[in-house]
Amino acid sequence: MIIKTQNEVTESVLSEIDRAPDARFREVMSAAAKHLHAFVRETRLTEAEFQKACAYIATLGQLSNASHNEVVLIAGSLGVSALVCLQNNGDRGRRETTANLLGPFWRANSPRTENGASLVRSPTPGEPIFVTAYVEDLEGRPVPDAEVDVWHTSGAGIYENQDPTQADMNLRGKFTTDANGAFGFRSVKPAGYPIPIDGPAGDFVRATNRHHYRPAHLHFLIYKPGFKTLISQIYVNDDERLDSDVQFGVTRALIGDYVRHDNGRAPAPDVEPPWYSLDYTFPMEAGEARLPRPPIK
Ligand SMILES: [Fe+2]
Repeated sequence: MIIKTQNEVTESVLSEIDRAPDARFREVMSAAAKHLHAFVRETRLTEAEFQKACAYIATLGQLSNASHNEVVLIAGSLGVSALVCLQNNGDRGRRETTANLLGPFWRANSPRTENGASLVRSPTPGEPIFVTAYVEDLEGRPVPDAEVDVWHTSGAGIYENQDPTQADMNLRGKFTTDANGAFGFRSVKPAGYPIPIDGPAGDFVRATNRHHYRPAHLHFLIYKPGFKTLISQIYVNDDERLDSDVQFGVTRALIGDYVRHDNGRAPAPDVEPPWYSLDYTFPMEAGEARLPRPPIK
């Protein structure tokens, strides 16, 4: 179509998208085109701003590599990741859920780890923590034989893939729930951490005068055929940034009761107080078991 007015640009694009045979593709891309065009009109986007935006988006890709995912960082910093999660879990957003963001640091093929064993694979700063968790269905029945990936930062707030002083796969492990739906492990209490701010996501956060930290958390990914894969993070209740997470991830259901023990014997003989314990139960919805695409290798 020969374009006569600016409104005809939108009509023309939409009519071309309408040719696509895939109905969901038509739905998603038509909405994307409509909203993008509306955004350009509402903001009266200038040519210089458009060029800047294109360069910004190109940089998101250029800075992403095997160990860093800038696209996931900006999606989180804009709250898009949190919105997609809450819209697709908890009976499609109708009730509270323990689902949460995958984040940019999940790696496939975590080492198989016995229930109760330690995730500490090289000397790691941090206070000892003992975690006992249960996986159950929505009726409260145990879910045995679920595969559970766990990953988290050290007490210094750094993931092993960001830290040459940590062993490969330190503070990562893969567990299988027992007949009671239980799994557990020993580790160090995670610390909150700054998201990387040397790229466009950092530019965005700085421009809003926010801090660029995530509150401390443990990551979980629970997989069993017949259930919707549950991706979760359980936040540390004494973290001062629970209500200002740079990635907008914290909901009430996800704040764990991390109990500090200043007295009493720890579950392991080599541990002196203070130590921490966490008990938590993950309810799983029926649905499709599907593993996400690992954001890093
Ligand atoms: Fe994290």
